[in-house]
Amino acid sequence: MNSLADRLIVSELDSLQREAALDSQRWAARKASAQQSVKPTEPTPDPLIRMGEFYLGVSVDEGKLLYNLARSSGAQCIVEFGASYGISTLYLGAAARDSGGQLITTEVHPDKCRATRAMIGRAGLQDHVTLLEGDALETLRAVDEPVGLLFLDGWKGLYQPMLELMLPKLSAGALVAADNVDHEAAAPYLALIEADQRFVTTLVGDMALSCFTG
Ligand SMILES: C[S@@+](CC[C@H](N)C(=O)[O-])C[C@H]1O[C@@H](n2cnc3c(N)ncnc32)[C@H](O)[C@@H]1O
Repeated sequence: MNSLADRLIVSELDSLQREAALDSQRWAARKASAQQSVKPTEPTPDPLIRMGEFYLGVSVDEGKLLYNLARSSGAQCIVEFGASYGISTLYLGAAARDSGGQLITTEVHPDKCRATRAMIGRAGLQDHVTLLEGDALETLRAVDEPVGLLFLDGWKGLYQPMLELMLPKLSAGALVAADNVDHEAAAPYLALIEADQRFVTTLVGDMALSCFTG
């Protein structure tokens, strides 16, 4: 079974990827309006809730890599930190469905949660994907089954505490995939995982793939 060929999933991926391709125009518009603004911008009440208009999604190649890793490992419990509008969620959710497993994904931005929850339903993945709304460092405490694949793609400065939270939940042989580790804020995460001899880490582009040997 290849859910990436499913017409509902193909249609959702197409429209998300079209929207995500406009992120660079959104950046330009934001910069221009910041330069014109005479007033300081409104402070965001919660520093985690920002960038609501940006998709920040994985590329097609990264998405397929995530599908392949999740599907070939047969992980029954996949956890995602940072869904945004759900591009990577579709790839991981498709793999979860094809392996008869579950994806638990997380998102803190309320607008993104609304959109992503609706998108999961339209894609027909509601039986295999659960979206936890709120700070993933809180919501993921509730995960009480062995995690076979952990995908880190939320704010990079939280990768280290996220790894510390999820470490006791990883099954032996679990894979931890962390995106954008070239980002300065991900340095403490990389230092931690590279120093821990239970992990074998390799870099694929800007994604760190680490096998938890148990
Ligand atoms: C790079 S985007 C994720 C892109 C997504 N994985 C994709 O490929 O489409 C990062 C997302 O993580 C979310 N995020 C950041 N910190 C979070 C937290 N503590 N808990 C839950 N979500 C968080 C942000 O709101 C943002 O939407």
